[in-house]
Amino acid sequence: ARGGAQAQDLAGRHVVVSAGGTREYLDPVRFLGNRSSGLQGYALARTAAARGAEVTLVAANVTLADPAGVKVVKVETTAQLQEQVVSASRSADVVVMAAAPADFRPAQFTDSKIKKAEDGSAPDIRLTQNPDILAGLARDRPSPAQVVVGFAAETGDAHGTVMEHARAKLARKGCDLLVVNDVGGGKVFGSEENEAVILGADGVTTPVPRGAKSAVAQAIWDRVAGLLESR
Ligand code: CTP
Ligand code: CA
Repeated sequence: ARGGAQAQDLAGRHVVVSAGGTREYLDPVRFLGNRSSGLQGYALARTAAARGAEVTLVAANVTLADPAGVKVVKVETTAQLQEQVVSASRSADVVVMAAAPADFRPAQFTDSKIKKAEDGSAPDIRLTQNPDILAGLARDRPSPAQVVVGFAAETGDAHGTVMEHARAKLARKGCDLLVVNDVGGGKVFGSEENEAVILGADGVTTPVPRGAKSAVAQAIWDRVAGLLESR
């Protein structure tokens, strides 16, 4: 229920939420990063706690205040995010990957600060692909009853519409729900608002109208609570 007493439909459940964007270090002072603010993940953590869940929030480079009553684990890199999310997920009923892990990291880490060359040449930086945390979580669930949720920011292109790309991604990742944001036409990072479609492996699609990230979070927990109930 909104406005009135909050339903405690996640009481007794342990949920793990990841948030923010990972950093991949080139040397001790430089990294490749992305613009994820962590706002949607923090809204998910806050609303889950309000619905009675025990919440572990794995936060990558987020500058927001820790939500009350939530266990916050801070990480920087995709490898650290994977380690902490996988570890917390072993005892979880639900895992939501709202973080933006870097798809690639520098193939090599240089132990000391990379210096400029005398001849004015610039280094070539080789990248290597990071592991897909979400696909691994969905594949290696500790229990078939665990609910696994992913996010996807998509644009339509020559290969398909936003929803076609999203359905393919849901299947590829093997998760139960995929929260899809249409980012064609320029997404504002760090925005307090969001608009989404929640796509289920069961074929059910829930549109969430533009509004606060907390409203998107509540709609996600509504779908998750339904799945937990049915398992
Ligand atoms: N994700 C993940 N590990 C990665 C990359 C992404 O767990 N290395 C998760 C994200 O947290 C998100 C979902 O996968 O929940 C989809 O992320 P997205 O970047 O859309 O998927 P990718 O497989 O990286 O596909 P794309 O090539 O479109 O970036
Ligand atoms: Ca990606």
